[in-house]
Amino acid sequence: MTNHFPQDTFSGNTFSKDSFLMSLPKPTKMKAATYSKYGPPIVVGIQEVPVPEIKDHEVLIRIRAASVSSGDWRARSLSLPKGFGLLGRLIFGITGPRKPILGTELSGEVIDTGKDVTEFVVGDQVIAFADTELGCHAEYRAFDQNGLITKKPANLSFEHTAALSFGGTTALNFLRDKANVQQGEKVLIIGASGSVGSAAVQIGKYLGAEVTGVCSTRNLDIVRELGADHVIDYTQEDVTKLGEKYDVILNCNAEINIRQYETILNANGRLVLVLGSFAQAIGFDRMSRKARKAGKRIIGGVATAKRRDIELLAHLAANLQFTPVIEHVYPFSDIMCAHAAVESGHKRGNVIVKM
Ligand SMILES: NC(=O)c1ccc[n+]([C@@H]2O[C@H](COP(=O)([O-])OP(=O)(O)OC[C@H]3O[C@@H](n4cnc5c(N)ncnc54)[C@H](OP(=O)(O)O)[C@@H]3O)[C@@H](O)[C@H]2O)c1
Repeated sequence: MTNHFPQDTFSGNTFSKDSFLMSLPKPTKMKAATYSKYGPPIVVGIQEVPVPEIKDHEVLIRIRAASVSSGDWRARSLSLPKGFGLLGRLIFGITGPRKPILGTELSGEVIDTGKDVTEFVVGDQVIAFADTELGCHAEYRAFDQNGLITKKPANLSFEHTAALSFGGTTALNFLRDKANVQQGEKVLIIGASGSVGSAAVQIGKYLGAEVTGVCSTRNLDIVRELGADHVIDYTQEDVTKLGEKYDVILNCNAEINIRQYETILNANGRLVLVLGSFAQAIGFDRMSRKARKAGKRIIGGVATAKRRDIELLAHLAANLQFTPVIEHVYPFSDIMCAHAAVESGHKRGNVIVKM
């Protein structure tokens, strides 16, 4: 696998950096990308807002890079899978967004600590996953020391570690925890070149599975390079008509026809819907009786992340066993362009903004 990791300019000079950070006056204002109504990328604008106050158990992170994810696109535009409209408004805000700053994940450095913080010190470089709590599209964010936060390996860049958590934890949770993928099982990843899919190809291999990735022509090489044993170009072939069967199918693309996909599942196979409609989520749109009798089942829901998942992903990435794929790094001032790239539905891996 190609090494995609640039070195950090800060590595190896911790003492002088810590002293420098400690000596700086604490910031009171910061730039943040905010939005006050749901809509296209143009609803996001950069504003000056107060720097969050830290509580006793929190650290203040100076954010160096953050991803703009499909989660940010959905929260910004309220473009949700079929049937999830009302639920989406309940989560994100009925009449307008409840949380004005998007951004699920970040990398950066600790510049202040609350009085009860024991796990981090000023100067630590960290990776943090805010998930649905959001708030990473800003210059600073307060973070609970016991939350989804870990130290950044020194050999990984801020950009790469800001692309680790969203796709990586989703892939881990769906493949390892929910689908219980076993060594030697055949796993099909639909949407293998996106944030979740590119991570899922690698996590599938890490779990010992035989992985087939489905993507468009331009992404065949990268999906192969990430470790997929086989690749299928969806612009040329229909995966449901190739006569191949799988133990696990992970769908990271649009809503799929369940009856069609159950035919390419082995007995006891799992159709894992990272993305599905409300009808599929509540079991209204389900597999045929014959498929269910053969032990085939649907797994859906929302991914959950644990701190040890971020630690595992960071460890794998530091040891070149996991590559967070980055399509483009935008300056923070161009965050609207980053949102537009994500909204295309065809990004390769992750889109990053650099502060
Ligand atoms: N359930 C959860 O907890 C959870 C968590 C995270 C994400 N999600 C959802 O999962 C979905 C994927 O997220 P993501 O961040 O990976 O999105 P993404 O980065 O935008 O990736 C989507 C991928 O789908 C591929 N694609 C588009 N049309 C396709 C087709 N007809 N057949 C196969 N692949 C196709 C694209 O590849 P090409 O460019 O090659 O077409 C693209 O790489 C999103 O809808 C997101 O909302 C759900």
